Amino acid sequence: ATEKTFVMVKPDGVQRGLIGEVVSRFERKGLKLVAAKLMSVSQSLAEQHYAEHKERPFFNDLVSFITSSPVFAMVWEGENAIAIARSMMGKTNPAEAAPGTIRGDYGLSIGMNIIHGSDSPASAEREIALWFGGELLSYERSVD
Ligand code: CMP
Repeated sequence: ATEKTFVMVKPDGVQRGLIGEVVSRFERKGLKLVAAKLMSVSQSLAEQHYAEHKERPFFNDLVSFITSSPVFAMVWEGENAIAIARSMMGKTNPAEAAPGTIRGDYGLSIGMNIIHGSDSPASAEREIALWFGGELLSYERSVD
């Protein structure tokens, strides 16, 4: 089915100049970009985004990292977009991510692992609403 997924280039990826590489890989795969913005992340947005990790020992590090400098937030649409984006990103831990995946090719550490993508349809729906509200674009012609 056609799905939408939330994908974000994290501060380490932005600092290293990997926005274009990430966007290019998703475009070449055939997914469609329906929202994107370069933005700084507030404490509140970071805590809401990572709410499920609240009790983890690394929660504070996660929030301070994601709020440390700008991220590039996106929504990609396409057939099985959620699973496809996850397979293109590779495993969360770059040490386990296969070469050819984004984390496998560019990442070294589990905290600074370049990119985030929604892990399920429920997460995708929640994260898209949290980061973009209704600001998604349609490619259908809007003028006649
Ligand atoms: P992400 O997909 O953004 O979702 C949760 C993040 O927590 C994950 O990517 C990792 O970057 C981060 N993470 C997971 N485990 C650890 C850990 N042990 N130490 C630091 N960060 C972690």
